[in-house]
Amino acid sequence: MLASEVASQIAAHEKYGGIVPEIASRNHLVYAPRLLNQASSVANIGFSEVDAFAATSGPGLASSLMIGASIAKGLAIGFGKPYLAINHLEGHLLSPFFGSVEKENQIRPNVSLIASGGHTMLVRVQGLDDYKLIGRTVDDAAGEAFDKVAKILGLGYPGGPEIEKHARGGDPNRFDLPRSMPESENFSFSGLKTAVRYLLPKIVGRFCETPDQERALTQTPYKLDNYVLADLCASFQQAIIDVLVRKTIAAAQKYGFDLVTVSGGVSCNQELRKQLGEACAHEGFEFKNAEPWLCTDNAAMIAFAASLRLQGGFQSDVTEEIDPNLALAK
Ligand code: KG4
Ligand code: ZN
Repeated sequence: MLASEVASQIAAHEKYGGIVPEIASRNHLVYAPRLLNQASSVANIGFSEVDAFAATSGPGLASSLMIGASIAKGLAIGFGKPYLAINHLEGHLLSPFFGSVEKENQIRPNVSLIASGGHTMLVRVQGLDDYKLIGRTVDDAAGEAFDKVAKILGLGYPGGPEIEKHARGGDPNRFDLPRSMPESENFSFSGLKTAVRYLLPKIVGRFCETPDQERALTQTPYKLDNYVLADLCASFQQAIIDVLVRKTIAAAQKYGFDLVTVSGGVSCNQELRKQLGEACAHEGFEFKNAEPWLCTDNAAMIAFAASLRLQGGFQSDVTEEIDPNLALAK
């Protein structure tokens, strides 16, 4: 990797507790050209020396996808180079191999858990471009559950890192939260979020000693005692981790893979990395995860997927449209 430049929009969206599409696309329009120039100067590579131009073509917000794809297509046409439309989820899925493989045929078969803000899925990977869906969430994604529960608790956005921080030192067994659909290969996290919502008034009621705490009964976000907050965050985080670990291991066993990979923003979570790594070691599976900076959305993983695809003989047509619902696998 010669350069990787990121313009984070977290600060611009934080006060809304989620992404506002119009703000996101306007910022892309402002920052993408600046990032291109920065990357070119850090890498000391002129645009005419670039072998190919790639962008995410989906899934995602149409107005944001359009900006990146239009820029990459324009550069590809202008410099007479190939254009590659990359599936965002393939970027995540391949990221655990970043830096350790150089050719498309070095992507070893694996069971891949992708856990991000928009998706939670288990995929059978036979090699580049050979993906079969095992299971996916039927409602909220794991990261979305982190974000929504953090919002109820009055913590910042994105919720995952906030909950992880507050969970440190907390007791993951203090609150009994549901592990939904244990026998299914699909996931469901909205019941867990609802369980936290219903638990909160009960917790606050139990500590109801002042008028302020009385009032908290009917108000969100809830103000919890620090120890209770730590236990609740730890219990919630553990409920998510239990489900992710159990289903990933079950899939690896069922489909006979010896390698398990994990990617997506939620895979930044140290406790998930540790527990999934331990479960894999216990079951005799090799385990690969991406470096934390490669887990949350970034352009390097898209470039990496594009470089493997380019070597594998794949290219996209510049007339290829973005697709907000682009599927990774059937
Ligand atoms: O992959 P990503 O950057 O964007 C999407 O493609 O959605 O994932 C973002 C998600 C957010 O929901 C965020 O709360 C979650 O990843 N996340 C985490 C952690 N860091 C980010 N969840 C749990 N623990 C973390 N440390
Ligand atoms: Zn993502």
